[in-house]
Amino acid sequence: MKLQLRHLSALFLSVLLTVAAYACSASATTTETNSAETSPELAKAAQDFNTYCSVCHGRDAKGNGPVASELKTPPADLTRISARSDGLFPADAVFKTIEGLDMPLAHGTSEMPIWGALFVRQAVGEGVLIEDAKTAARVATDRIKRLVRYLETIQEK
Ligand code: HEC
Repeated sequence: MKLQLRHLSALFLSVLLTVAAYACSASATTTETNSAETSPELAKAAQDFNTYCSVCHGRDAKGNGPVASELKTPPADLTRISARSDGLFPADAVFKTIEGLDMPLAHGTSEMPIWGALFVRQAVGEGVLIEDAKTAARVATDRIKRLVRYLETIQEK
């Protein structure tokens, strides 16, 4: 368990470095993933997606991000979640996948990072009070919910 978490952190670091480089380049590229401009919440989610997810899943969410070929498991095509689920968008399952707490860590096979943990850590910042932690958990949850709604908007039939 410890070992796997360490592996995950190393992956996180390398991914975040790649993300930083990738996010700086061609940030003006417009794809259908940016069709969310009408809603500020969805626009924020699209921004999170470009920053944290596109490095593996690709800017168009189809699974061809710049580090995709380095992963053992190919990143899922996130525009076809509904198609894989009998046409219904499984929002709760998608939430849990992104949050990461349902991840089969014990099997050590998942290369999908645990975003719940990262977003909480970012929200907590220096805070160590229980209230800060609760607020952080809420902020992280809202952020994931926003990503879930965003993914729902990019589903292909
Ligand atoms: C380090 C690469 C990587 C990053 C970054 C990443 N993912 Fe993934 N993701 C994967 C891989 C690999 C899978 C395939 C599932 C697995 O772990 O077996 C996956 C699967 C998923 C799935 C499940 C799709 C399905 O239908 O089964 C969702 C939803 C998802 N990712 C959303 C996201 C979101 C949202 C972000 C950004 C907050 C993100 N991912 C960032 C690698 C990544």
